[in-house]
Amino acid sequence: MKALNLNLEFSPDPNLAANNRSAKQAKYLAIANALRQAIKEGQVAPTEALPSARKLAQQLAVNRHTIMAALAELVAQGWVEAKERSGYRVVENLPIQSSFTASKVKQAKQDFDWQFRLKQNVPVTPKVKASQYPYNFSGGQPDIRKFPFDEFKSHFSQTCQRPKIDDLSYGDSRGEVELIKEISTYLRRVRSITDKELMICNGSQEALYMISQLLLQPGDKVAVEQLGYPPAWAAFERTGAELISINQDERGIVPEHLAQVLALGKVKLLYLTPLHQYPTTVSLDITRRMQIYQLAVQYGVAIVEDDYDHEFHYDSQPIAPMAADDPAGLVIYISTFSKLMFGSARIGYVVANNVLIEQLAAYKMLMNHKSNVLVQQTVAKWMQQGGFEGHLRRMTRLYQKRRDFMVQQLKSYQEKGLPIHFEVPAGGMAIWLDTGKSIVNLKEKLLSKGVYLQTELEFNIRKELPREEYRFIRLGFAAMNETEVAQGLNIVMNLLYSGSSEPTG
Ligand SMILES: Cc1ncc(COP(=O)(O)O)c(C=O)c1O
Repeated sequence: MKALNLNLEFSPDPNLAANNRSAKQAKYLAIANALRQAIKEGQVAPTEALPSARKLAQQLAVNRHTIMAALAELVAQGWVEAKERSGYRVVENLPIQSSFTASKVKQAKQDFDWQFRLKQNVPVTPKVKASQYPYNFSGGQPDIRKFPFDEFKSHFSQTCQRPKIDDLSYGDSRGEVELIKEISTYLRRVRSITDKELMICNGSQEALYMISQLLLQPGDKVAVEQLGYPPAWAAFERTGAELISINQDERGIVPEHLAQVLALGKVKLLYLTPLHQYPTTVSLDITRRMQIYQLAVQYGVAIVEDDYDHEFHYDSQPIAPMAADDPAGLVIYISTFSKLMFGSARIGYVVANNVLIEQLAAYKMLMNHKSNVLVQQTVAKWMQQGGFEGHLRRMTRLYQKRRDFMVQQLKSYQEKGLPIHFEVPAGGMAIWLDTGKSIVNLKEKLLSKGVYLQTELEFNIRKELPREEYRFIRLGFAAMNETEVAQGLNIVMNLLYSGSSEPTG
C-alpha cells in the first residue's frame, strides 16, 4: 500500500527532550496521534491494513520498537486491531464520532444548536478589568498591595501543617465552624448583631443569588434604591421578579415614596445599602430607618441589608445596622471580606433567621456543596490571632488619609473655579461627585487615557433622563496612593473641563 501522509508533531518541550525516556514516550505517542489522524482523514479506511511496522519505521526514521509501541497504543484505544500474520488493520467501527465525514459533521453541528437550547440568555457584558488601568478610581476597590500576604501565608501554612481533615471533605455547607464563630463574635462587637444565624458564602453575590432564588418568583416585585448596585439587581431579575425603583434624595431613600410603592402590593423584598448608600455613600439616618422598618413590618416585606464596607467609617462610630434592631426578624444582613481582603477571596456572609439560613445551606449544597475550607480556616486563624484587626486598623487609617487627600484635591479644583460639588463621605471608599456637566462618553474617553472610573449612567436604574443630563461620577480613593490620585484626577479634570488630558501647570 502507498505510504501514509503522517503529520508528526514531536513534543517541543525542551524538558521532555532532555529526558531520554520521556522523549521516547513522547515520540511513540506523537506517532500514534499521527496515525489516528490519518485514519480519521480516511487515508486508510475501516478494515484496511496499515503499512507494516517495518515500512512505517523506515518512513519515519525511527526504531521499529517505537512503531510497535504506537500501534499497541492505537489497539488499546480501539482504532486498530492486530491480525495474525497480516499485521495491523483499522477496525470496522471507529471508536469516536469525530470520524464522521465532513458533511455529516456539518449537518450534526447545525442540528445541535446551543443557542436554540438555552433556556435563558444571561446578558454577556464585556468586562472591563479596572485593575489593568494605571489610575483605578473603581469605587469599592481596596489597595490590595497593602494586604499582609506574608502574615497570611504563615497562617495558611499552619493550616496546612495541622489540617482539620474531617472538615476538608464534603459536609456542612454553612461554612467553617471556626470562621462562623469568629465573624459572629466580630459582628456582635462592631455591628451589635445578635439573635440571628450566620452562614458563609462564596462572596455576598452568592448570598444575593440564593436569597433571590428562594424568595422570589415571576411577577414578584423588588424595591431598590434608584441609584444602586447592578449585580444585586441582576440576581433579583433572574427570577423573573420586577425591580421597582424608590426615589432617593440627598438623605438617601425616601420613605414616603416607598410607602406608596408598598401600598400597590406584590413587593416581596426591599434591597438597601443603609450605611454607605451605594453608590452615593450617604448614611440613612435613624428616623428614615425606623420609618422604613415599620413599613416593612406593615406590608410583610423582607429587607436585604447590604453592609458591604461598614469597616471603613472615619469620623464617628458607624450607625448600627437595621439587622441590630429587628424584632420582627425580617432583615437579611449580608456583608463581605472583599473590601478588607480582596474580591477574589470570595468570602461573604449572610446573617438571618434560622429558617432561612437552613434553606440557604440546603440551596448551597445544590450549587457547590461548600466554599473553600482551607481559606476559611486560615481567615479564622488570622482573626483569632489579631492579624485581621490590625490590618483593619491600618487600612482604616490609610483610607481616611486618602479620603482627606482626595477631598483636599477636589477642593483645590473648586477654588480654581471648576463647577464640581460633593459631600465629604463619613465612611466608605469613594466620593460621589457632581461634575456640573454631562458625563456622556466620559468613561470611554478616560479609559483610553489609562483612567478607570464609573459614572452615574452605570448606577441609575432609571434610564428616562436624556443621557446628557447625567452628571455624577464615583471616585474611589482607597486603591491608589496620593501621587496616583493626584495624577489621575488631573487627567479627569482636564478631560472634563478643557477637553484635553495634558497635565495642568
Ligand atoms: C454594594 C456591594 N455589595 C456587595 C459587594 C461585594 O460582593 P462580593 O462579596 O460578592 O465580592 C460589593 C462589592 O463590590 C458591593 O459594592
